[in-house]
Amino acid sequence: MHILLIGSGGREHALAWKLAQSPSCTRLSAAPGNPGIAHHATLVALDIADAGAVIDWCRTQGVALVVVGPEAPLCDGLGDRLRAAGIPVFGPDAAAARLEGSKAFTKALCARANIPTAAWVRCSDATDGLAALDRFGLPVVIKADGLAAGKGVVIAESREQAEAAVRDATDGGHPIVIEEFMSGEEASLFALSDGRNVVAFGSAQDHKRVGDGDIGPNTGGMGAYSPARVLTPDLEAQAMAEIVEPTVAALAAAGTPYVGVLYAGLMLTHEGPKLVEYNCRFGDPECQVLMPRFAGDFGALALAVANGRLKDFGPVSFSEETALTVVVAAKGYPGTPLRGGTIDLADAESNGAIIFHAGTAERAGKLVSNGGRVLTVTATGTNVAEAQSRAYAAVDKIVFEDGFCRRDIGWREVARENEQSEEQG
Ligand code: AMP
Ligand code: GLY
Repeated sequence: MHILLIGSGGREHALAWKLAQSPSCTRLSAAPGNPGIAHHATLVALDIADAGAVIDWCRTQGVALVVVGPEAPLCDGLGDRLRAAGIPVFGPDAAAARLEGSKAFTKALCARANIPTAAWVRCSDATDGLAALDRFGLPVVIKADGLAAGKGVVIAESREQAEAAVRDATDGGHPIVIEEFMSGEEASLFALSDGRNVVAFGSAQDHKRVGDGDIGPNTGGMGAYSPARVLTPDLEAQAMAEIVEPTVAALAAAGTPYVGVLYAGLMLTHEGPKLVEYNCRFGDPECQVLMPRFAGDFGALALAVANGRLKDFGPVSFSEETALTVVVAAKGYPGTPLRGGTIDLADAESNGAIIFHAGTAERAGKLVSNGGRVLTVTATGTNVAEAQSRAYAAVDKIVFEDGFCRRDIGWREVARENEQSEEQG
């Protein structure tokens, strides 16, 4: 089968790397791709915002499945257009992608389906928002209602901060969501849905802050590991039964079935898992730790999802090993990153780590940086400490003057592993 992969980041490189190993995938193309993806796929210069052009290309090239990596084309209806043209697609229609595109949509669905999540209120302007603050304690969470790319969230510790955040977020007439603060540890749960049937597809934890010790501004993620051991099998089953399955059922009942990967951001509170947010795609860099652990033909699985035949696929299984990925970003990220810095990877792949390209380009035959997050370096091991030391061993062999990374990805788990071995020792 000829598969077309849409996207150009580290997540898509991990998907391309996995799809290229799929026995069912005989030809892999990627639009627009990146220099790392080019090792596994033929790059196609398609405008992915132009659904008509994508459909025409799929028809002339005999594409049997389109796998969409990022959320933007899904929220814009690329999935709808492809499905209407009879082309199987891994990724939801725009109506179901509102789970990521609109916090208010997700909160309303949670209320309808009795899904545990933080109390919330949607406010259309500053006056509404300031009045609504009276109904919440502190800290309180203020979010933009829309695609926020992980940056539109303020956790206000004081009333003054909360008021400033409300004024800031509503400035220019933007609606906001105010939420009760949930305390606990966060974990991400992934699930595949073919519209009706749903199966868990691994867990991960990421590091959103730019600096060591989880300080500094929020980013798209500076590193991740899988599985998230805090999400025990019991908690995962509870989250599937109380959160993910009712969501898929509610969307099916509404006539907007969810097809693709559903990424549930969970807060593990003392009352059990609660939903923080949904994304309608794989996480980046979470995908870079899920794909190396998935033991199976991802192309065949993605097709089963796209065709509503998940039940025929059989159980999905993952390696028992831990995978950990370290993001190498360009200096300046998450502000304005330096672009064009040269990168030499010649020595870095030798210890078995996988180097996924996130924001790279080729200029005059040389690899250069071309984005905020530039590379994600994944290694596996019998535990987090081993995966971590292998990943950093590879990172340290990368020559990239303009780059930086966090040195403590996985710290929470490494500390827990140390505690456990002290108890046992
Ligand atoms: P979001 O953009 O909704 O994913 O939020 C980004 C981050 O803000 C989450 O990963 C949490 O760390 C934090 N956050 C969002 N909502 C809440 C909440 N209700 N309680 C506590 N933390 C939250
Ligand atoms: N790493 C967070 C995300 O992909 O949204």
